[in-house]
Amino acid sequence: MTEQVGGMSGLKSIEIEKTSFRTQMVGSLCAQDEGQSHKLVGWVHRRRDLGSMVFLDIRDRSGLLQVSVGLEWAEEKSVQLAHKLGAEDVVSVEGCVSLRPHDMKNVDMATGEIEIKAVRLERLAKAETPAIPVYHSSQDELPSEELRLQHRVLDLRREELQSNLYLRHRLALECRNYMDALGFIEIETPILTKPTPEGARDYLVPSRIHKGEFYALPQSPQIYKQLCMSAGFDRYFQIARCFRDEDLRADRQPEFTQIDIEASFVAPEDIMKWVEGLMVALSRHFPDVKTQAPFDVITFADAMERFGSDRPDLRYSLEIEDWTSILGDCGFNILMSAVGEGGRIRGLLIKDGSRLSRKQLDQLQQEVKEGGSKGFLWVKSTEKGGSGPLSAYMEDHSYAAMGMEPGDLALVAAGSDTITSVALSILRASVVRKLEIRKEKSHAWLWVIDFPIFGVQSNGDFVANHHPFVMPIERDAALMEENPGLVRGMAYDLVYNGVEFGSGSIRNHDPDVQRTIFRVLGLSDQEIDSKFGFLLKSLASGTPPHGGIAMGVDRIVAEFVNATSLRDVIAFPKTTAARGLLEGCPITLQDKDLSELGLLRSSEISKSQKME
Ligand code: AMO
Repeated sequence: MTEQVGGMSGLKSIEIEKTSFRTQMVGSLCAQDEGQSHKLVGWVHRRRDLGSMVFLDIRDRSGLLQVSVGLEWAEEKSVQLAHKLGAEDVVSVEGCVSLRPHDMKNVDMATGEIEIKAVRLERLAKAETPAIPVYHSSQDELPSEELRLQHRVLDLRREELQSNLYLRHRLALECRNYMDALGFIEIETPILTKPTPEGARDYLVPSRIHKGEFYALPQSPQIYKQLCMSAGFDRYFQIARCFRDEDLRADRQPEFTQIDIEASFVAPEDIMKWVEGLMVALSRHFPDVKTQAPFDVITFADAMERFGSDRPDLRYSLEIEDWTSILGDCGFNILMSAVGEGGRIRGLLIKDGSRLSRKQLDQLQQEVKEGGSKGFLWVKSTEKGGSGPLSAYMEDHSYAAMGMEPGDLALVAAGSDTITSVALSILRASVVRKLEIRKEKSHAWLWVIDFPIFGVQSNGDFVANHHPFVMPIERDAALMEENPGLVRGMAYDLVYNGVEFGSGSIRNHDPDVQRTIFRVLGLSDQEIDSKFGFLLKSLASGTPPHGGIAMGVDRIVAEFVNATSLRDVIAFPKTTAARGLLEGCPITLQDKDLSELGLLRSSEISKSQKME
């Protein structure tokens, strides 16, 4: 099979080697093929029956083509069949490419200048009446997503999904070629594993042979790829399936795919340079995406201060301001007590933001609260002063001090930086959408670096911000014992238009440093040895300095094709409730299956048998 990239999706220019069933894909024919005889196959997309003549639109993954079946040129039994065909029947057509009369040309169809005058028509498979229509144009209104997921096979026939999965294939192919050219080799790591800490829960698989024991599905190949470095592979990559049992959001699936990379003898700059090159190469397959290296770099601390987020969308320049000195003693209790408790007053100045209605501001308030923050205050600057909950506490000169002019809006949050950052990053993302604020650029690529290794829970316990294998940056390493919360890691996240595409770091190749990190995370030496002894042993076997990164394939493809959901770039995705609606999973098991897996004690079996 030979394929070329081209057109919107590349689908139309697919050329295939002929088989005994067909000579061409339907979408690849055009006016220049006039007079040629072809044998084609496809699905009946639409049928118009004019009595003496039947028009069929035949569809395959390359497009649509009109077939006309009339007694003048077709076999009689083919005409009879054409009258009976139903939507989604699979047919074979033999005939000649002819130009359509001028007034019959269809400019909305790529093959709209031609048709096949069918001599012979055969039904290869009959279709039941489709539960959902198979649409072709992206403008068609679709049935509910739930219904489409139940009938995923029919929905996948839609051009948009065919195109998304084709582009996903191109991306994987490009990735393999690019990594291979850099000397990386693809190594498959196990799917039945021991838990890897990536911050989510593991999917567990019971062992039938070893009753009461479980494998974990990998949250990522993290430990195995590090073992590969100890084993001397030097440059590893894998297009790897990962499994995480976590609360799902629009940008998460319980099973997803990573481009997973690890290399020995590298610094962050090496990995970042390779990934930038990879992104340039991948984005060439997506006509709407422009990628120019090198990417911007910002520290985590700077990103939080200026944008309130560790994955800011830098297509917009809107930045957070610190208004503590202007509003700290304005007399408003909420603000004054926040400052009294050591917090700050931070906010966003939205030029011409008075356009936001009361209703929209209420919606924003709701979004901020749902995001876990208490809410925000606002003030609009008017010709005569101001309006909004904060206006009564504003001095005339405060507006100017905050940079406000009539028509502007200030959104204000007070408290600890953690709280205000959450609120203001939600506000920033939502306001630019609601007000359709002009983007400064269409493609914002960004590296966020120097993440703190640990986060602190409300009970004072430390947790790993990424995973526990990140190497501390040299000048912070001494703080590990006395103040782990301040230790930054040699970590780097890749962000595109506000979406986290990837996350990586240099790792601890020294087993003692790695053990110290596990201890900070509250693990006893015994726990460390039982959970991670195999890793520490391999690190102690002469492991080179190494580091890597993993990028989410689903997220990259979804952003590059501008999909509304990850589900639109995954062939058989799960719902947000982690269900497969097509096949119906997860399933409940019979007691006998549970007991075979050692998941039901014999006392429970006899109890359930009695109840039966
Ligand atoms: P991390 O957990 O940040 O890092 O994952 C890397 C990237 O994988 C994607 N991703 C997801 N995509 C869809 N659904 C999910 N549930 C999901 N979770 C993560 C994101 C994310 O940036 N082992 C480390 C990488 C490393 O350090 O080398 C890891 O897995 O795009």
